[in-house]
Amino acid sequence: MRIIINENRSAGTVNRNIYGHFSEHLGRCVYEGLWVGEDSPIPNVKGLRSDVVNALKELRVPVLRWPGGCFADTYHWRDGVGPVSERKTIVNTNWGGVTEDNRFGTHEFMELCRQLGCEAYFSGNVGSGTVQEFSDWVEYCNMPGVSPMADLRRANGREEPFNVKYWGIGNEAWGCGGNMRAEKYADTCRQFSTYLRNYDRDHKIYKIASGANVDDYEWTRKVAEIAGFAIDAVSLHYYTVPHDDWEHKGPATGFTREEYYATLKKTLRMKELVTEHGRILRKADRRGRLGLVVDEWGTWYDVEPGTNPGFLYQQNTMRDALVAALNLNIFNNHCDTVVMANIAQTVNVLQSMVLTDGPRMLLTPTYHVFKLYRGHQGARELETYAETKLVSCGDWAVPNIHVSASENADGKVLLTVVNLSDAESAPVEVLSDVIGAKSAVTGTLLTGQSGAYNTFDEPETVKPAAMSGIQSEKGRFTAVLPPCSVAAFEIGRE
Ligand code: AHR
Repeated sequence: MRIIINENRSAGTVNRNIYGHFSEHLGRCVYEGLWVGEDSPIPNVKGLRSDVVNALKELRVPVLRWPGGCFADTYHWRDGVGPVSERKTIVNTNWGGVTEDNRFGTHEFMELCRQLGCEAYFSGNVGSGTVQEFSDWVEYCNMPGVSPMADLRRANGREEPFNVKYWGIGNEAWGCGGNMRAEKYADTCRQFSTYLRNYDRDHKIYKIASGANVDDYEWTRKVAEIAGFAIDAVSLHYYTVPHDDWEHKGPATGFTREEYYATLKKTLRMKELVTEHGRILRKADRRGRLGLVVDEWGTWYDVEPGTNPGFLYQQNTMRDALVAALNLNIFNNHCDTVVMANIAQTVNVLQSMVLTDGPRMLLTPTYHVFKLYRGHQGARELETYAETKLVSCGDWAVPNIHVSASENADGKVLLTVVNLSDAESAPVEVLSDVIGAKSAVTGTLLTGQSGAYNTFDEPETVKPAAMSGIQSEKGRFTAVLPPCSVAAFEIGRE
């Protein structure tokens, strides 16, 4: 199989934010997964568990979306600031009807972002909140001078503004965020946007409209046409679900070959979605100012047997590693359209980076892919072409090879390649002018049976390893990818 890297053509810079994450007040994501509290026996810094934070830091997380999801449109930010003992206890009506005592709020989330070194992306309440409430939250976070909200922030212990840049104007407004029609949402979005102010010309806020579900192109068109002038980007949600029946989505482990190929095939649909939503955004705004933010993506399976159905806890296998790698390749290749993406969700919910069990933590195969791909962040995308053949099971056929490449500021090229076949190795010949006679070419490989996963007792069943057998000469190198694998090749300039 030949792969060509064309250094003369590029879709642009891979926005670092494509490697973003999402953490909701849902199940054990925030509580237990990220936040254990200062009194916990689990090692923590200011209540945030150190094992998880340290693992995530390795991924160079650029941006983290919070507090939802559906939770965002029931969230009243004032409930989560001020003395913890005085914070309101509410019911998390979207996710399992559990008690939410608001001990993790704005300040705690900003401390998490500080520890991770990432930007915050707040999803504001449009569905059940008011314009004033949302406007106050921006003022609370971003006003440097004297004002009622800035004074409240100071009274709560924070002198300097947080300078939160990214603000989502509602979430899934077509569903859990208010069941609105597109026209109604677009008008509402214009209204809310009017009162989300910039308080500092050096820290302009970036407004993201609640976008479409999957292929609801009419939603994108109407929001962009009616509200486009008032926003910077429109979001898109697309989850990979093996079966179309949401009551029986398919298991996270122990799946069939047909389910494996169906999952990959459905993942590849992301290309069509970002292309078409992107085309609509460009048509609505000819200056090309509107970005596409895929702020929820990833696999969604039946919950792990025996766990709370409202908690969306699922295991994570090599199949998930491939889903992550394919989506990230697609986002890289469409970096002229996709300005941010946030996988759902960071810990213990859906397609997670890490899973926790009391004091124990494991890294998922998806985590390892994000680490293999982190060099793409901020690099210049390079056009690639892969010769492929179809591999299939039942009605589900996919190309066996999928790639993306980029070049960083030091001239180092990162080529990420997926072998989707669960049965056949893929010998690849990579052709490019970026490969010099003395170029160092190294590879890191993640591979295993499609259903392989890490457990708390055996946390290293799936982990990356250095690749052997890479042969390089001027203009080309060869390597062999085993079945069901993700490889990251680094090509140094001479
Ligand atoms: O990520 C889980 C849920 O999926 C989010 O809360 C919601 O936005 C989406 O439907």
